[in-house]
Amino acid sequence: MAFQEEDLDEVESTHLRSLTAAEAEGDERAVEAALRPRTLDEVVGQVRVRDQLGLVLEAARRRGRAPDHVLLSGPPGLGKTTLAMIIASEMGAPLRLTSGPAITHAGDLAAILSGLNEGDVLFVDEIHRMSRPAEEMLYMAMEDFRVDVVIGKGPGATAIPLDIPPFTLVGATTRAGLLPGPLRDRFGFTAHLEFYEPDELDLIVQRSARLLEVDAAADGTAEIASRSRGTPRIANRLLRRVRDYAQVRADGVVTVAVARSALDLYEVDQLGLDRLDRAVIDVLCRRFGGGPVGVSTLAVAVGEERETVEEVAEPFLVRNGFLARTPRGRVATPAAWQHLGLTPPPAERDATLFEE
Ligand SMILES: Nc1ncnc2c1ncn2[C@@H]1O[C@H](COP(=O)(O)OP(=O)(O)OP(=O)(O)O)[C@@H](O)[C@H]1O
Ligand SMILES: [Mg+2]
Repeated sequence: MAFQEEDLDEVESTHLRSLTAAEAEGDERAVEAALRPRTLDEVVGQVRVRDQLGLVLEAARRRGRAPDHVLLSGPPGLGKTTLAMIIASEMGAPLRLTSGPAITHAGDLAAILSGLNEGDVLFVDEIHRMSRPAEEMLYMAMEDFRVDVVIGKGPGATAIPLDIPPFTLVGATTRAGLLPGPLRDRFGFTAHLEFYEPDELDLIVQRSARLLEVDAAADGTAEIASRSRGTPRIANRLLRRVRDYAQVRADGVVTVAVARSALDLYEVDQLGLDRLDRAVIDVLCRRFGGGPVGVSTLAVAVGEERETVEEVAEPFLVRNGFLARTPRGRVATPAAWQHLGLTPPPAERDATLFEE
C-alpha cells in the first residue's frame, strides 16, 4: 500500500514536471517564432547564402515556376527552419511541414505528396532521418514529379503511377554527410550555413532586444553576442536569460556588467562554451589524456547521445580550434588544455596533432 502511494506520487510528480517542461518549451518556441526574420532582407549574416538564394527565388518568380529544390545544412539554431519559411513566403506559396522521423513508411510520404498543390513548398526537417523506402520514393518525386504507389504485396503487387504537381522541396539537415548521394544530387541548390560572427550576432541581439522591448546597452548586447557560440538561437536565449537577471537583480537595463554576471550564473563562459562543450574537452583532456578517442566513448563519458556530441558540441569546438577530428579519433588541441587551465603532455601533443 505504502509502495503504491509512493508510486502514485512518483507518477504524479513526473507528470507535473513534464507538463510544466512542455509549457516552458512552448513558451520558448513562441518567443523564437516571434523573433524569426520574415523576409530575406531581414536575415542577418549568411551573406553568400542570402545572395544565392535570393537569385534562385527571383529567377523562379520571373519564370513563373516553382524554384529548384533546396537543401539547407548546418548545425542547430543557425536558421534552417527560418530560411525554409522565408522561401515559401518570398514565393507567396504555402509551406507544408514534415520531418524525416515522421515519415516512417513510403505511404506516409505518398499521402503528403499527393496532397500538394502546384508551387507548394514542402519542408522536410531532419531529412537525413527518413526511412530508405520513403527516400527512394522522394527521388522520383523530386525528379519526375511522380510517384509509384504500390498496391498489394508479393507477386500480385501493382505499382500505380501518380502525378504530383510541381513543388519545391526544402530539406534541412544537421548532417549533410549522412545524406545518400542520389538524394543530395537531386537538390538544385545547396546552402551550408556557417556559424555567425560576433558582430552579426550583435545585430541579431539588438534586433531581438528591440522586438522584446528590452532596454539594452551596446556593450551589453555585444557581450551576449560574443558568448553565443556563433548561434542566433543561443543569442536570443541568452538575451532572455540576461533580461531575467536584469529585471530581478538589477534595474532592468542590460549592461555589460549585468550580462557578465548573468552569463556567469548560467555557466556560459567567456568564449561561449556551454556545459556540454566544456564537458567534452574536459573529459577528453582529463580522462583520456587529450585523445585520440572515439566519439562514442566520448559521448558515453559525458553522458550524452553520440548524435548530440557530434551534431551540437563538435562543430563549434572544431571550428574554434579546441578539438580536432583525426582518423584515430578526437584529439584535444593545446587551446583546449589552455582553456581548462591545464598543461598538455608534450610528447602526446606532438604525436597526435601533427598526425594528419
Ligand atoms: N540569420 C538570422 N538572423 C536573425 N535571426 C536568426 C537568423 N537565423 C536564425 N535566427 C533566429 O534563431 C532562431 C533559430 O533558427 P532556426 O529555428 O531557423 O534554426 P534551425 O537551423 O532550423 O535549427 P534546428 O537545426 O535546431 O532545427 C530563430 O527563431 C530566429 O529567431
Ligand atoms: Mg529547424
